[in-house]
Amino acid sequence: MKKQRILTGITTSGTPHLGNYAGAIRPAIEASRLSDVESFYFLADYHALVKVQDPARVQRSTLEIAASWLAAGLDPNTVWFYRQSDIPEIPELTWLLTCVAGKGLLNRAHAYKAAVDKNVADGEDPDAGINAGLFMYPVLMAADILMFGANKVPVGRDQVQHIEMARDFAARFNHIYGEHFVLPTAAIDESVATLPGLDGRKMSKSYDNTIPLFAPPAELKKLIFSIVTDSRAPGEAKATEGSALFQLYQAFASAQEAEGMRAAFADGIGWGDAKQALFEVVDRQVAPMRDKYQSLIDQPIEIEAVLREGAIKARTITAPFIAELRQAVGLRDLSEMPGSSRRAGAQQSPRLASFKQYRDSDGKFYFKLLDAEGRQLVQSLGHTSARDVGVLIARLKHGVAEELRHEASSGLHLGSELLGALMDDVELSDVIEALASFAEAAS
Ligand code: TRP
Repeated sequence: MKKQRILTGITTSGTPHLGNYAGAIRPAIEASRLSDVESFYFLADYHALVKVQDPARVQRSTLEIAASWLAAGLDPNTVWFYRQSDIPEIPELTWLLTCVAGKGLLNRAHAYKAAVDKNVADGEDPDAGINAGLFMYPVLMAADILMFGANKVPVGRDQVQHIEMARDFAARFNHIYGEHFVLPTAAIDESVATLPGLDGRKMSKSYDNTIPLFAPPAELKKLIFSIVTDSRAPGEAKATEGSALFQLYQAFASAQEAEGMRAAFADGIGWGDAKQALFEVVDRQVAPMRDKYQSLIDQPIEIEAVLREGAIKARTITAPFIAELRQAVGLRDLSEMPGSSRRAGAQQSPRLASFKQYRDSDGKFYFKLLDAEGRQLVQSLGHTSARDVGVLIARLKHGVAEELRHEASSGLHLGSELLGALMDDVELSDVIEALASFAEAAS
């Protein structure tokens, strides 16, 4: 069975805080370790530009968020991890979707509507100060999701409408141009509580009540000691219900420790002692990651390399897919006009064989060779690097027929290198003919 694809985008507009960690990073990394899913995590830096027009802040946030996810244990070898702006096929798909997206639907998007409502309430022009990026945000987000055929998108409630819009655009496109897109569903995890911030409201940048995930210990302690509590004195019983301190404790402690703290609240633990205990459980979990984070932040070159490698991998999906979509909408090679001839007197150009590159659930990279009718001829071996597959395909397209050999016992070889296997009923001559079509097309 095909693995479920789960995809998450993280807007690069801020510094990760404890709420992001407990609510998104930690559960996502746990989920990425399950064997029946394929996970996609990306830095949504194009989305950041809608809100942040400070270049240094976008760059800094990209570094911090990438370092946070890696420090928290994300393994770029087992998941897809990339930066949105490294994938030019995403803005390209955004345009294809823009041209099927209903403008009326976008008018009703919550974030845009809220901005308009505020302008109207303030007696301003409805669109005053609103950039078109905010309006188009759901289309870019749909491109992120549909590009990778994601089945599930874990999101907070505020993002559910965006997933519904992605479904709508995908369905419209499929209706007009044929089935190309998987319709995604939102996955709202009710068990992942949103954490309260310093003032007891939801921890959020917009309330300025956050505790940065990787604050140095002294700052972490200071912030934890500034969490708002009531005025009950030590010895007075305290309520866990509605206590920000208790909720934060629970998010970082074991179940047993949380029970212990519940009892301590009933027994009248002093707020200072409770805060000290909270600091200890948070620091216990964060400290090992903090060292890793610091060393990553100090080596931006390495993070850059991880992201670029991630983009190369991601493009093994996006490049062939956008080619398929361009074909579907009619952005086509004119030499493939029905009834056209390539040169005066030449016969109609043959349809091309094709290579399909993909990454399978074992994490390895593969290709298939299909003939012009779409019949599979060759199944490759798995490779650990997407680049190796790209290089092999490039060689195969360059007239290497005399170096191809097939042995019933061991498979298809290029020179001394084992490529993979021929499919049933396929002859070596079929492969050679298919490959010749590339050389002809290039001549
Ligand atoms: N809009 C999301 C947020 O603000 C970030 C995001 C961008 C995203 N593209 C995505 C999330 C695709 C999920 C899927 O949190």
